[in-house]
Amino acid sequence: MDDEVERAWRAAEREPGVVVLDGFHALKHALRFGGDVRRVLTSDRAALAALAEELAADVGPALDELAVELPEPVLRSLVPRLHPTGVIAQVRRPSAGANREALARRPRRAPVVLLENPRNLGNVGAVIRLAAGFGATGVVTTGELDPWHPTVLRGSAGLHFATAVERLSLPELPDGPLYVLDPEGADIREVPFPDDALLAFGTERHGVSAELRARADQLVAVPMRPGVSSFNLATSVGMGLFHWMAGRPPGAGPDGR
Ligand SMILES: C[S@@+](CC[C@H](N)C(=O)[O-])C[C@H]1O[C@@H](n2cnc3c(N)ncnc32)[C@H](O)[C@@H]1O
Repeated sequence: MDDEVERAWRAAEREPGVVVLDGFHALKHALRFGGDVRRVLTSDRAALAALAEELAADVGPALDELAVELPEPVLRSLVPRLHPTGVIAQVRRPSAGANREALARRPRRAPVVLLENPRNLGNVGAVIRLAAGFGATGVVTTGELDPWHPTVLRGSAGLHFATAVERLSLPELPDGPLYVLDPEGADIREVPFPDDALLAFGTERHGVSAELRARADQLVAVPMRPGVSSFNLATSVGMGLFHWMAGRPPGAGPDGR
């Protein structure tokens, strides 16, 4: 039985679009936000059920149905690093077509975040987590980095399933007014962000490219004390999304959809 489960795991690893989630919280988010969870392996079913009861009763029944117990050494052989909660899962990521459709859908009720050529996997994970929390429509990246890389999934705590995450090229960007966040832009306090905005952020080292700058409807800056050259990328996204949310009427929830 154990061998069969292990073989199924190994076979699924080769299927395109199957990603691994490690840890209870990432799995909880995938289940809660409609991720197509294929397989859940745990070293301790009872401990997993207790965690669900304590922290996420809504996903308890799904976990109960999906979870298969395997000895911890077997789990350790399947992933580079076993999470302290002793649970791993394989989930099918939404198709690129579904993500593109979600990103293009109109009317758009919450911004799309664009990261131009990001380099740091941890930053991208943090941005996806922010986007999910604020109810943004999605996160688009350009460049080589895979926004579904395992390290990015870890950084987002599995919240890739709560917002549309896709890599596109600049000409493929969804429609909408383009606000480019850049330290040389106009004071953000004078520029409200509409719900259908694309909020664009530059690469960690070099900032926004001339091409993206030329496409901008407006360049916008979060003012900084003289002598400080820039904020961290994920922090800037947090401030941009907060600025959008703060411009909405009180009580308008960050449902994003
Ligand atoms: C680490 S910064 C890039 C630093 C780069 N050397 C520069 O001068 O733009 C990464 C991105 O965060 C955003 N950012 C950082 N500080 C900002 C600020 N004060 N106002 C608006 N956006 C900012 C921009 O989109 C920037 O391209």
